[in-house]
Amino acid sequence: MLTREENDLLTQTGPGTPMGDLFRRHWIPALLAEEIPGADCPPVRVKLLSENLVAFRDTDGNPGLLDAYCPHRGAPLFFGRNEESGLRCVYHGWKFDVNGECVDLPNSPEGETYKDKVNIKAYPAFDAGGIIWAYLGPKDKLPPKPTFEWFDMGDDRRYLRKYLLRCNYFQAIEGDYDPSHGFFLHSTLDGNNSNPGNRVRGGNRLNSFLNRKHVEIEDTEYGQRHTAVAAFGEGTNVVTVSQFFMPSFTGSGISGPGVYSSNMRIPIDDESNYHYRLRWSYEPFSAEQVQEDKYGGYTYPNQIPGTFLAVENKDNDYLIDRVAQKNYSYTGIKAFPVQDLALVEDQWGPRADRSLESLVTSDQNIIAVRKRLIDAAVALMEGQEPSGPSNPDAYRVHTARMTVPDTMPIPDAVEQVKKQTAGVVKTGVTSN
Ligand code: FES
Ligand SMILES: [Fe+2]
Repeated sequence: MLTREENDLLTQTGPGTPMGDLFRRHWIPALLAEEIPGADCPPVRVKLLSENLVAFRDTDGNPGLLDAYCPHRGAPLFFGRNEESGLRCVYHGWKFDVNGECVDLPNSPEGETYKDKVNIKAYPAFDAGGIIWAYLGPKDKLPPKPTFEWFDMGDDRRYLRKYLLRCNYFQAIEGDYDPSHGFFLHSTLDGNNSNPGNRVRGGNRLNSFLNRKHVEIEDTEYGQRHTAVAAFGEGTNVVTVSQFFMPSFTGSGISGPGVYSSNMRIPIDDESNYHYRLRWSYEPFSAEQVQEDKYGGYTYPNQIPGTFLAVENKDNDYLIDRVAQKNYSYTGIKAFPVQDLALVEDQWGPRADRSLESLVTSDQNIIAVRKRLIDAAVALMEGQEPSGPSNPDAYRVHTARMTVPDTMPIPDAVEQVKKQTAGVVKTGVTSN
């Protein structure tokens, strides 16, 4: 449990808040690259860390992220004309480039000289891994660009979708560090034999989870590393290593042989976030895998066209099927991430008051991630910069999972699996 003050600190990311400042020391996803598909494309609205912005690409294809409102008299730039390397406000014609410089001020005799004194809030942005990344922090603290290893993968080794979640970002993160919920929320009533997600978790092993042989949580430069060892039957143990990347990215599991998953939870404001749901692999995905994961409606829920909202959403009670709940699945809710969504979007509301909680041992990973973020935000308030952003290569690690003979000493097994989390050298496959 947290005090109300700690809870506010953890969950508020607007300008001037301690957690907002911590987010503003990192490059974070602002939107999908495909939302601004080409040079001089129509601008789109972006809300990020409670700031209203507008994104576009200039004539050279460079992404720009500007204040949503024109500095002349506050008109919305969303309606602007994207023309010849700048976005022009359609109220009186002022025009701004991707750096926020006013390059034309045509409605006034002094415009030609006055424009040099005018600019608009603009944030650095770049393309990588199918995402437009943005840095919303102070200019003198601009860190090097991230180098996640999945940036190196081409489109045949990576897929990504973005979902709108109508709750605080940290409620969504907690689900990624909540190892006991899968045995309930994501299970089927036949001992998981018919569970479409069975390959992810290796069936229902609640007892071995409750009697885990080893749990280790280590703070790292990039965030945290969580390791666990549990009996896996037939003389074996399973060792799993998951990662937490500051400020709000998870490497939270292996979703198939050689397939890594990551969830990036990016605050829109304090009561909504975008979930960037990523699968990537060193090897090209098979057509079957893409078909099942991306289009099957179980791993990647279908969306209402033209939105980032799952078809099964809060407004329709996630299309819960009470007959299925009685006879087949624990929840009666079909898609795997929607099962999470139904619970996390309303934990005492969209921004949970954690002073009301009654935590137990299996919540220890959640407690650790909270502490890592709160400690870093408090340290930053006291003038200590986070070290992760200045060392992006530290983030080139991923999850790992391995079964080993239960005769292998646990420290040896743990060491062996941790080694597998290291990113490999670049594959030579380029991405845009
Ligand atoms: S309000 Fe944008 S040019 Fe006047
Ligand atoms: Fe879940």
